[in-house]
Amino acid sequence: MNEIVVDGRALPFVAGQTVAAALVAAGRVAWRTTRVGRRSRGVFCGIGVCFDCLVAVDGSGRQRACLVLARPGMTVTTGDVHE
Ligand code: FES
Repeated sequence: MNEIVVDGRALPFVAGQTVAAALVAAGRVAWRTTRVGRRSRGVFCGIGVCFDCLVAVDGSGRQRACLVLARPGMTVTTGDVHE
């Protein structure tokens, strides 16, 4: 089974899915908050334009989850990924 690790927990994905698609398929609609106003954010545009879907991937922050293809063993950190 294909799995990524999100915040320390295994999350299955289908080959060809982005990280955002895997998160949404698992029922996550928001995974970070804005700096100003602490508003919830997840996928908005889905095409890499809005930056609402930011996550850290394998320790590298500010990755757009809607553009990153999930790979087995990839580690994803959600939450406040501003830098
Ligand atoms: S949802 Fe807009 S950049 Fe990812």
